[in-house]
Amino acid sequence: MIPDKVPKEDVFYGAEEMRRTAHVPTFDKYKDMYMQSIEDPDKFWGDMAKDFFWKSKHTGRFLDYNFDVTKGEIFTKCMAGASTNICYNVLDRNVHERKLGDKVAFHWEGNEPGDESTVTYRELLHHVCRFANVLKSQGVRKGERVAIYMPMVVELVVAMLACARIGAVHSIVFAGFSAESLSDRIMDSQCTLLVTADGFYRGDKLINLKILADEALQKCRDKGFPLHRCIVLKHLSKEAQETSLSCPPAKRSCPDLQDRETSRVKKSRPVPQVPWNPEVDRCWHALVAAASDECEPEWCESEDPLFILYTSGSTGKPKGVLHTLSGYMLYTAATFKLVFDHQPDDVYWCTADIGWITGHSYITYGPLANGATSVLFEGLPTYPDVSRMWQIVDKYRVSKFYTAPTAIRLLMKYGNEPVQKYKRDSLKVLGTVGEPINPEAWHWYFSVVGDSRCPIVDTFWQTETGGHVLTPLPAATPMKPGSATFPFFGVVPAILNESGEELEGPSEGYLVFKQPWPGVMRTVYGNHGRFQSTYFKKFPGYYVTGDGCRRDKDGYYWITGRIDDMLNVSGHLLSTAEVESALVEHEAVAEAAVVGRPHPVKGESLYCFVTLGDGRTFNRTLEAQLRKQVREKIGAIATPDYIQDAPGLPKTRSGKIMRRVLRKIARGEKDLGDISTLADSSVVEQLFLNRCQPAL
Ligand code: WT7
Repeated sequence: MIPDKVPKEDVFYGAEEMRRTAHVPTFDKYKDMYMQSIEDPDKFWGDMAKDFFWKSKHTGRFLDYNFDVTKGEIFTKCMAGASTNICYNVLDRNVHERKLGDKVAFHWEGNEPGDESTVTYRELLHHVCRFANVLKSQGVRKGERVAIYMPMVVELVVAMLACARIGAVHSIVFAGFSAESLSDRIMDSQCTLLVTADGFYRGDKLINLKILADEALQKCRDKGFPLHRCIVLKHLSKEAQETSLSCPPAKRSCPDLQDRETSRVKKSRPVPQVPWNPEVDRCWHALVAAASDECEPEWCESEDPLFILYTSGSTGKPKGVLHTLSGYMLYTAATFKLVFDHQPDDVYWCTADIGWITGHSYITYGPLANGATSVLFEGLPTYPDVSRMWQIVDKYRVSKFYTAPTAIRLLMKYGNEPVQKYKRDSLKVLGTVGEPINPEAWHWYFSVVGDSRCPIVDTFWQTETGGHVLTPLPAATPMKPGSATFPFFGVVPAILNESGEELEGPSEGYLVFKQPWPGVMRTVYGNHGRFQSTYFKKFPGYYVTGDGCRRDKDGYYWITGRIDDMLNVSGHLLSTAEVESALVEHEAVAEAAVVGRPHPVKGESLYCFVTLGDGRTFNRTLEAQLRKQVREKIGAIATPDYIQDAPGLPKTRSGKIMRRVLRKIARGEKDLGDISTLADSSVVEQLFLNRCQPAL
């Protein structure tokens, strides 16, 4: 399955020096380890597990599972019977056994340049213990769910680890989600407490988070699900706190706030409104000030739930993806260590929000399990200007940097100068996640951001997979731009055709996995039936990712996009991602999104939305050039039928293009369904105005 030899041509390598110290220095070593991980998973993961603290050992098999719906219930168990605590492993163990107490866990960088703080492992442990005691004092018990709706601040990490410490299950809702989404999630996972903040700034925009949280709690009440406690962090300035209605002015007596004396709100800007309901609301700072900083961890069983995180389903309401303790801990720790080739002196920065799985696995759990120093960034890549990322890279001397293709494409629009103004000489490994990266963006990331020195790890995974499943290892894997390359240890991919037959050699079809790895999701919270039917019903015996995938002659895996984004044009399957990539390769195009529009003869036709780079104008000549370009890149079958100028694309707050909305626009259907997750709804009106007329 893994090729014996890797190709010599059309591949890229990072700097040679990395190999001297890398955990997995060569492709041969990767292959050996991979074979071992498949042939003897108990030994492979058992060795990894030795790095952690276990209160008691597991009984029976290391991994036990059933992936075949025809044989009974689907399940995965990892290290069943063992007891441990993930918070203990990522904090106490680092402070006490590994003597990393004084090491920086996070450099917090606020939205406003100059707004910053640092927290060491020892300090983080103290904060977490205090807040764990606060949760207990508010009546939270092991196994109960706690909703967290917070901006990117250290206290968000504190809140999640405090839950883990007492065996409570966190259910984090990205702070960019609406009140309605929050209330749906609170009710679905039956949370007993909410942790939130007054508000925060994203660039110039004030988000009144507490108001949204209150709306969500009202919606819960209206639906007969009252929540009795809401803990509110005062994140924004002193002034902001003084305008709040009745929160006790505990600030000065609160040790957590000593580094919060400076205002987070510029003088000229509005401060958040913080309505206060004394029946329900409690001040984070007052509670913490009164709490002890010692808290014995709750020893939990390996398969006890750790967290729930919602992900959108292709049909129906979001699914509460449930991850459990030991397997997730091992898997995020191992992937972080090997995929970023973590070294003790690294400074690591993942630009994702903790509200997404990327933040859970690769801001909180994976890096902390490894005793890493990370940057925790509250702001935006474009605020106050488009150099912000590179300025931060230089400021903290970031060595491992992880971001999304959409951010790369966004910054690429502004050219090289904002990047090259900064040195970036500390960078060693670059990573991407979230969607296929088009070769154009890959090359820019590699040559401009990384000065052709840093390998790019294009990590394919999902909320459901818990951690990376297809990914290069930075020193070992020759890279092909746009390919997530090969499976991580313990992962066995296959490509199936429509009839469920495994395809060998170069092929294209459904990407599935044949057996579990420790970090795979265990169920959809409260709906095991939905879990089984979503992921295991179509092809019994396999976990179905929902992604299309191609394997090339060298055995490299290429994600072609969601199966639901595949188009069928005259009986040929086309990947929208492939067409988009071809469009984006045109120098005038910054971003493109392609959807299907019903066609009486061909079945579907290609409707393309293109966002042009700064200073470019849309006209007939450009349209013709783009058609030609796609034809040349893919073939006549992929020739776009419609190309529409799209000054902006409808995106979720996490930057994913909402193709569902684009499909409706392409069809001229005004009823867009639920667009509450859209970041900017004015984009949609503009797109309706510019619609292409039916073909001549
Ligand atoms: C879907 C999962 C994993 C954290 C962020 C997204 C797409 C993700 C890649 C990649 C091509 C990718 C897939 C996948 N995806 N990473 N490197 N190359 N596609 O988590 O919201 O659960 O989305 O994102 O389509 O199924 P998610």
